[in-house]
Amino acid sequence: MRSHKTILISLLLPKQTQTSMSLLILSPTRETDSWVKAIREEDSSIPIAVYSERTNLSEIDFVLTWNHPYGVFEKFPNLKCISSMGAGVDYLLKDPDLPLNVPITRIVDPELSKTMFEFILSLLLNQMRGLSHFKQLQLLNQWKPKMYKRIEDVRVGIMGLGVIGSYVAERLMNLGFSVHAWAQSEKPNSKAEVFVGLNQLKSFMQKSDFLVCLLPSTPATRAFLNKETLSMLPAGAILINVARGDILVENDLIEMLDSGHIEAASLDVFWQEPLPATHPFWEHEKIDITPHVASLTNPKTVAPQIVENYWRMKKGDACLNEVSKEKGY
Ligand code: GLV
Repeated sequence: MRSHKTILISLLLPKQTQTSMSLLILSPTRETDSWVKAIREEDSSIPIAVYSERTNLSEIDFVLTWNHPYGVFEKFPNLKCISSMGAGVDYLLKDPDLPLNVPITRIVDPELSKTMFEFILSLLLNQMRGLSHFKQLQLLNQWKPKMYKRIEDVRVGIMGLGVIGSYVAERLMNLGFSVHAWAQSEKPNSKAEVFVGLNQLKSFMQKSDFLVCLLPSTPATRAFLNKETLSMLPAGAILINVARGDILVENDLIEMLDSGHIEAASLDVFWQEPLPATHPFWEHEKIDITPHVASLTNPKTVAPQIVENYWRMKKGDACLNEVSKEKGY
């Protein structure tokens, strides 16, 4: 029997606090304030919690997450949806204790495609005009002009033709770049020439002066860029990896840069992040490093799809942008 005092307190509490399950933000590596603010602004009726040791896990049915501690989801008895805070779900799917019956969603946002395009364009132009090379010469007080490559001079191969890859290919083509792509399945709507599957990989690689990797990380793509595949590139090719670090065999890249077969690499993602201070990439003069910043989710632009999915989950409807656990994306 509840005491008079308990009944009185529960009558005074807002209804939601008594009965609602909450949306939980669980992200040890990303700040959470801007996410709370963006979701509140989109729909102030959704109860939101930020994960801490005191979180009552039985009151959570929807988790918005990035880099969660593995095994944690087993402890949520009422979980109905796990939503990645980013476009990628590889970290989530690698959790050996991921609940099998809970749908996983990812972010699909035109803003992510747009900022990825802008980043890739800046890397392409940086390499074509030798800006990193001239920066190195500046530090040595050296004046050494060198010829540049123009948009008309280069062929760009996009690896991975999902939502982001297709957008990047199209925007680059509109700027006059010659673009072709490689995908694991046919892409009938692509404006770029598409090479499909392992049979056509060599033909794709052979014409890629710039190789832009936008593949998802799955068991099939892990270590896919290795000595064997990278040697299919034309001599002097340049690698841009803005997808996931584990797609590239890092020692093989160093070997190919040192032999001169690959001229330079712009890398935003790594097997281990943050990149360890002693990693040989830091000192390599042919490698440009950025700290996984190619395209960062903007909480404001994605809040509507999170709110939409929250209410779909409540109604028992299928969520937007659900990923296939089999395919891995
Ligand atoms: C970033 O890497 C993302 O997956 O959104």
